[in-house]
Amino acid sequence: MRKDSACNGGGSTATPTSSAAQISLYPSCVETKRFFALCFLVSLVMVLWQLQPYESSLFVASNRRCIQPSRALLNPSEAQKVSSLPSPAVEKPAPSDPNKRTFKSYGSAAALFVQMGAYRGGPNTFAVVGLSSKPLHVYAKPFYKCEWIPNSNSSRPIKAKAYKMLPDWGYGHVYTVVIVNCTFSEKPNVDNAGGRLVIYAYYGDMRKNYERFVAMEEKPGEYDEGRYSAPYKYDYLYCGSCLYGDLNANRIREWMAYHALFFGPRSHFVFHDAGGVSPAVRAALEPWVRAGRATVQDIRDQEVYDGYYYNQFMVVNDCLHRYKHAANWTFFFDVDEYLHVMEGNTLESVLEEFKDYTQFTIEQNTMSSSMCVQDPNNDHSSEWGFEKLVFQQTTRPPGHKDRKYAIQAKNAYATGVHMSQNVIGKTLHQTESKIRYYHYHNSINVMGEPCRDFFPIPKNGMEIRHNNISYVYDDTMKRKAGTVKAFEERMIRSVHT
Ligand SMILES: *[C@@H]1O[C@H](CO)[C@@H](O)[C@H](O)[C@H]1NC(C)=O
Ligand SMILES: *[C@@H]1O[C@H](CO)[C@@H](O)[C@H](O)[C@H]1NC(C)=O
Ligand SMILES: *[C@@H]1O[C@H](CO)[C@@H](O)[C@H](O)[C@H]1NC(C)=O
Ligand SMILES: *[C@@H]1O[C@H](CO)[C@@H](O)[C@H](O)[C@H]1NC(C)=O
Repeated sequence: MRKDSACNGGGSTATPTSSAAQISLYPSCVETKRFFALCFLVSLVMVLWQLQPYESSLFVASNRRCIQPSRALLNPSEAQKVSSLPSPAVEKPAPSDPNKRTFKSYGSAAALFVQMGAYRGGPNTFAVVGLSSKPLHVYAKPFYKCEWIPNSNSSRPIKAKAYKMLPDWGYGHVYTVVIVNCTFSEKPNVDNAGGRLVIYAYYGDMRKNYERFVAMEEKPGEYDEGRYSAPYKYDYLYCGSCLYGDLNANRIREWMAYHALFFGPRSHFVFHDAGGVSPAVRAALEPWVRAGRATVQDIRDQEVYDGYYYNQFMVVNDCLHRYKHAANWTFFFDVDEYLHVMEGNTLESVLEEFKDYTQFTIEQNTMSSSMCVQDPNNDHSSEWGFEKLVFQQTTRPPGHKDRKYAIQAKNAYATGVHMSQNVIGKTLHQTESKIRYYHYHNSINVMGEPCRDFFPIPKNGMEIRHNNISYVYDDTMKRKAGTVKAFEERMIRSVHT
């Protein structure tokens, strides 16, 4: 700590007349000068070492703290202390030339890398998912290198060049999403004695230094090659994007029951709680979590990193890589959307037809989230959302083609929100005669009764107009409500007993 603060420039502001507290915190002036000489020497050596960072990685990593405090190497309380100290720029002595200007910097605006997850993706490949300063990626082009350090003394560390993917390119804010792909030419941990995946994150063009961190560790005996090839544990995996804001727990309950039945027993649901899982929503999901059908990940801490929309690009990519070899197909859509296979097909038959494609996109049927049938004998209060919202929009907003998608995750390296552009293999878009989704836009944010506009069922499939938009009556989803309710009752009862 003391060493860090001295190298950090703290020493130069601690003149001999400083307060006792400062003197005790910083080394004496002579010591400081000596220290700067040492720091200078070390940085010189480091610059030379940079030319072959791998060979010298450990040595450099332990000394480079002299150049700037590396927060990653400190524990949180130490990191806080460092951030409250004067910043590195002040360390230069006052120039004698009055026209020579200096630049003092305070604080640091965005991290070089914020790791969310790191996963093995096969016998010789890994993916590290995280965030990184967006201006840095625009102007300095940070890059990455990877190293596998085995636990056993008999095998040597191996290195690989990494490539990065920026799946939210154009959408990021202070932070942009980065997927670092490390693919080695030989198999790391082949003796299964365990080891660590180390990432070297370089600042890019402007600065030759880098941060080194252990992205993941494999314990002895943990590696299981069989896990990275079919057959997989599940047929279908659902990767949900971020749940945030006030969500209607009834809608979540209905969505979950519907899709648990739709995807069948060999499926699993992953939800991401960015603040939207209230006690009521949790209670709705809890029976499914206990039955092993669903997982709720708490990602509330993402909020301190300003990225696009609750960092949803990072979240879906984390889910992709975390469950890359968990299921044949991975689906990405929202909790106000309901998948539907067209009459005469089953989900299985459709996916059998699509199996030569890595990815297919799904077109939406846009439903009104407020229009219900006018019926003096039914106030709709006991009906489920998809049971009573029965008006489908026929006029589409121009250019509005909001599609969702499913992929064979084993062939995907990174993914977006509406489709993935980093895949090998073909993408299929002509799917609307086989599978679609019903979209009840914003219905999950309505806390009370969704039925707010009432219309009689139009005769002979006629259109009706509301707010200058045309609708037709569509009871396709309504007709499934009975089966879904009975299924839920069966499932939940079996969980409770
Ligand atoms: C990394 O990219 C390579 C192709 O360059 C691919 O074969 C591999 O599966 C990718 N790894 C992950 C974990 O996505
Ligand atoms: C590897 O070497 C270190 C020191 O050289 C030793 O402490 C450690 O026990 C060795 N590990 C194995 C698995 O042989
Ligand atoms: C999943 O993949 C396995 C192996 O490729 C296959 O046997 C199985 O039928 C697939 N299941 C579905 C639902 O596609
Ligand atoms: C209603 O929609 C038509 C086209 O569908 C458009 O020309 C007209 O301006 C719209 N009227 C209002 C009040 O928005």
